[in-house]
Amino acid sequence: MNAKKIAAEHAVTLVESGMVVGLGTGSTAYWAIEKIGERVKSGKLKIRAIATSNRSEEQALSLGIPIITFADIDQIDITIDGADEADHALNLIKGGGGALLREKIVASNSRKMIVIADERKLVRHLGKFPLPVETNIFGWEKTFQRLESLGCIPTLRMEGERPYITDNNNYIIDCSFGEISDPPALHDRINAIVGVVENGLFIGLASKLIAGCDDGQVKILP
Ligand code: A5P
Repeated sequence: MNAKKIAAEHAVTLVESGMVVGLGTGSTAYWAIEKIGERVKSGKLKIRAIATSNRSEEQALSLGIPIITFADIDQIDITIDGADEADHALNLIKGGGGALLREKIVASNSRKMIVIADERKLVRHLGKFPLPVETNIFGWEKTFQRLESLGCIPTLRMEGERPYITDNNNYIIDCSFGEISDPPALHDRINAIVGVVENGLFIGLASKLIAGCDDGQVKILP
């Protein structure tokens, strides 16, 4: 069974008419957007949504999900998004799909952030997955060196022959730290580097994790 789809569809049961919904990005969030679209199309669900990437916005619009902006609302009621890794305290690494900045803006402006993932994303310690860091293009070489001096192996993310460019016209440097012993401290040290726009550590933002299993069950934390 598709563990990502199972987690995503379980999360969509938490979405109610009248809500403003944050739409995540990635192959797991894809299934949540599809399911929301199905419920919207059936006429049983009336929501408005803010997407975390151009890709998710296009998918939502193609399914008839109304898209709004932050100018239209005070807060998002619920955001459903994937993760590259999650620990048991619900600290996350995100940004494998390149959308971490908008994802963090959306998550920090949401009453609830529901993380959906294949259960294999749940880890004891974050850090096996290289931490994505979105950086300004100007001076990126210096930002790269400063990230390296924090003790990681940095790699500029490429798309074919060229650097990958985010929806916000920035680069991404993927930083392999190995096991991250103190995620909040590392988060702050990275964001203190001039040239860093945002990093993929999501600390204290997730309210719940729904992990899908191959046998069709879900594990829910907390
Ligand atoms: C997008 O930038 C990411 O944060 C995704 O949410 C994360 O990479 C999980 O992606 P998958 O759902 O494709 O595994």
